[in-house]
Amino acid sequence: MSILLTGGTGYIGSHTAVELINAGYDIVIADNLSNSEAVVIDYIETITKKRPKFYQADVCDKAQLEKIFDENKITAVLHFAGYKAVGESVSEPIKYYRNNLDSAITLLEVMQSAGCNQFIFSSSATVYGTGATVPYKEEMPTGHCANPYGWTKYMIEQILTDAAKANNNLSVVLLRYFNPVGAHESGLIGEKPVGVPNNLMPYITQTAAGMRDHLSVFGNDYDTKDGTGVRDFIHVVDLAKGHVKALEYANKNLGCEVFNLGTGTGYSVLDLVNTFMEVNGINIPYEIAPRRAGDIATSYANATKAKEKLGWQAQLGLKEMCKDAWNFQKNCK
Ligand code: WQD
Repeated sequence: MSILLTGGTGYIGSHTAVELINAGYDIVIADNLSNSEAVVIDYIETITKKRPKFYQADVCDKAQLEKIFDENKITAVLHFAGYKAVGESVSEPIKYYRNNLDSAITLLEVMQSAGCNQFIFSSSATVYGTGATVPYKEEMPTGHCANPYGWTKYMIEQILTDAAKANNNLSVVLLRYFNPVGAHESGLIGEKPVGVPNNLMPYITQTAAGMRDHLSVFGNDYDTKDGTGVRDFIHVVDLAKGHVKALEYANKNLGCEVFNLGTGTGYSVLDLVNTFMEVNGINIPYEIAPRRAGDIATSYANATKAKEKLGWQAQLGLKEMCKDAWNFQKNCK
């Protein structure tokens, strides 16, 4: 019996692969390597001393997926695969809708034929949309997403909700991630964006490494404690452990349930920059720049539901996030 991870060589997928293996699960990874590298499988093996079975496969390709389900007894799927660049989703929306919706639907069809009934989905806090007030709670309305990337998460949540309503045997867990940062303490796996990073932490680590000459802080006139944006940064290893708990939950509960995976605490952009400089003893030159289009002032989770129902709570703080992110960056080839 195995657990299938789509997008399992990516940033969050690879960390979850490690935690699942450490928890005793047999896993199978499917990834088309469009935004990751096959060497990640070696790194997962180095960390866990167990090599996951790997298929270089596109989740939109039904025949490839069927082969994976034919060759393995898959009891649950964690669906990480998907396009995730917010800006690109605005300029190429069709590509985003095609890929992200198609992969989820194809997966559901193949799972149904194979009698596989547990689906854990990588959703995002972005589904709370532009009008929501913090802290975000799972029962708040979703929608009014700021970009097509966010709408794909919203739509897939809806598809999975309907699928679970129609099939009494199905267990769906929707995990709404806040802002994952950091890396595995080994420094072997982490976030490695292609080209100029869009997200804050990779931009900080690349500036620290001398690959960028300075960080632009997008706005210091928000209604926050220091005027910069506030986010719920969560260590990726904590996030990965949340998936192990979600899988245990899906194994025991039918229907569709949604959980925030955040720490419940917001920190500002300057908190993160200052903590990074302090724990790593390295200067990050930065300049205040205009606000970035589409950004909101503040986002953080109410993390109570995951604590109560999953028995999961983030353990690692901003210091570990900054230390581990830099450790990974230094190791990057
Ligand atoms: C965080 C803060 C920026 C870069 C996005 C997606 C979300 C999820 C994660 C993933 C904001 C500021 C950033 C920089 C800066 N998507 N910033 N200078 O926008 O909260 O969330 O990524 O796969 O769905 O929306 O994350 O890291 O881009 O920004 O000042 O160079 O850092 O303005 O306040 P965000 P982020």
